[in-house]
Amino acid sequence: MAGRKEGGSSFIQSALGRITMILVIVVVLFGFARQMIIPKSFGQYGRYRGDSVSEVASRPVNYAGGGNSTCGQCHQNVFQALSSAEHGKMDCQTCHGPAAKHVAKPSEQSPKIEGNAELCGACHKDIAGRTDQQIATVTLQMHSGGVACVGCHDPHQPWAKLGGRS
Ligand code: HEC
Ligand code: HEC
Ligand code: HEC
Ligand code: HEC
Repeated sequence: MAGRKEGGSSFIQSALGRITMILVIVVVLFGFARQMIIPKSFGQYGRYRGDSVSEVASRPVNYAGGGNSTCGQCHQNVFQALSSAEHGKMDCQTCHGPAAKHVAKPSEQSPKIEGNAELCGACHKDIAGRTDQQIATVTLQMHSGGVACVGCHDPHQPWAKLGGRS
């Protein structure tokens, strides 16, 4: 009995020993791999790579700051037209795209001016869950007959070309 007991416990001991060895190796390998993989600046500010802050900050700025009045300095009429109408709360660059380069040097970059169904439909297409209480919607193709939205709606003053809201 005693012999069997001893044999049993030494078996447990050696199995434990092996498991412990394997665990130690796994932990050491893990620690080593972690050291290799984790970027140096990880944890500098929190649980992310500290270097990413300066990397993101060094990217060129694409959108002009200062809101619509920045554009209004040179596009007075459009600025006033937009402000007084239904799209008045929209940023010019929502439709015209990033325009920082254009503001710095107008001849260098022309902002896009595509008033197609894709742009207008992003907000006005009648999709499930979008109700007329939230925003005026239309069934694009049926409503426009394929004609460009800006053929009838001035994007800066949606009702101006149509002589006001019917
Ligand atoms: C420093 C003056 C200046 C500022 C600021 C400025 N623009 Fe312009 N913009 C111009 C000039 C000059 C033109 C070219 C004149 C023209 O063709 O009518 C132009 C043309 C445009 C056009 C027409 C492009 C085309 O292909 O016909 C759009 C759209 C435009 N600007 C949007 C903007 C927006 C949006 C902003 C603000 C983010 C802005 N602009 C700020 C001077 C400026
Ligand atoms: C709802 C989308 C939208 C917004 C918001 C918007 N635009 Fe436009 N803009 C357009 C479209 C589309 C055209 C092209 C119109 C066309 O082809 O008849 C255009 C044309 C222009 C043009 C050239 C023709 C013109 O009317 O002089 C300028 C300049 C311009 N926009 C400047 C601005 C400025 C500045 C703002 C902000 C104050 C602004 N836009 C806001 C959609 C928009
Ligand atoms: C970023 C979202 C957005 C885009 C893009 C946009 N609009 Fe609008 N539009 C609005 C909002 C918000 C209103 C004001 C709320 C309303 O009238 O439902 C509005 C109002 C209107 C109205 C007046 C609706 C009414 O009941 O009086 C018309 C017409 C219109 N837009 C047409 C257009 C056209 C044409 C384009 C494309 C050149 C366009 N919109 C692009 C958000 C957008
Ligand atoms: C042939 C001229 C024409 C074209 C093209 C056109 N519209 Fe209209 N739109 C109108 C008229 C007229 C009204 C007012 C009567 C009505 O509701 O049908 C209107 C109304 C609207 C309204 C307000 C609907 C409401 O229920 O209050 C929105 C939003 C609108 N249009 C968006 C667009 C969009 C987006 C496009 C491009 C896909 C477009 N329109 C193309 C003539 C046009």
